[in-house]
Amino acid sequence: MRTPIIAGNWKMNCTLDEAQALASGVVAELEEPLCTQVVVCPPFPCLEAVHQIIATSGVALGAQNMFWRESGAYTGEVSPAMLTSVGCQYVIIGHSERRGRFGTVEEGMTEGLLKVFGDNDETVNIKVKAAFKHDLTPIVCVGELLAEREKGLTDAVVRDQVFAALEGLDAAQVATMVFAYEPVWAIGTGEVCEAEEADRVCKVIRQAVGSKVSEEAAQAMRVQYGGSVKPDNVEGLMRQPDIDGGLVGGASLKAGDFVTLVEAAGRIKCG
Ligand code: 13P
Repeated sequence: MRTPIIAGNWKMNCTLDEAQALASGVVAELEEPLCTQVVVCPPFPCLEAVHQIIATSGVALGAQNMFWRESGAYTGEVSPAMLTSVGCQYVIIGHSERRGRFGTVEEGMTEGLLKVFGDNDETVNIKVKAAFKHDLTPIVCVGELLAEREKGLTDAVVRDQVFAALEGLDAAQVATMVFAYEPVWAIGTGEVCEAEEADRVCKVIRQAVGSKVSEEAAQAMRVQYGGSVKPDNVEGLMRQPDIDGGLVGGASLKAGDFVTLVEAAGRIKCG
């Protein structure tokens, strides 16, 4: 059995005090031992403080992004070694918000502004390799825009993103990694992808890994669903065979809701 994995992506939320309160709430409400791998991904300035709070619990720390270089003149960037030095074990790579694939475009925002964070298939692959070099487990996000779905391109878009992310990795690495299927149109919109459809695309991801790497690696690696996962839809999602957990935005900002998701995954996946 694959260990289910629920990760909270706090995005650009929480000052230090708020992050400490949220992490403390999660730890206090979780009933250990956990059968589910739980990860919280606070913003960079809060990583170390959150690590202090979760260090003796079963909750792991993740970052929301990183640069691939070791060190140097890269103003504003954070290296893999910096992340491990504050206790990170996971790192989210290629979130659609970092690929400039926002679900909604603010008024007055141009295409160019959307690309401000600049991740693409190539940077995602370099970052994944850098993560492995530093013993960080990458959570690689893939997913289609609404316009791509409407044109029937979902599977092709997702497959291409998966193939690009896997370039140059060996089967042992791939077996430990995590993919997150996050249809861009379902992120922060309250519009959840139907559980069966989410599962179908997660299976497409697994098949892509099987065809490019190995069937063994494909069966071992975990695929999360992300996009408006909430306490009232989590059970249907977790019942699906190819969904191994969730990458959660909004609902990870309330300790009670997040713990409800973790408990549901454990109940359904671990029996
Ligand atoms: P929401 O759960 O807020 O839709 O965000 C999903 C997401 O992008 C997680 O990375």
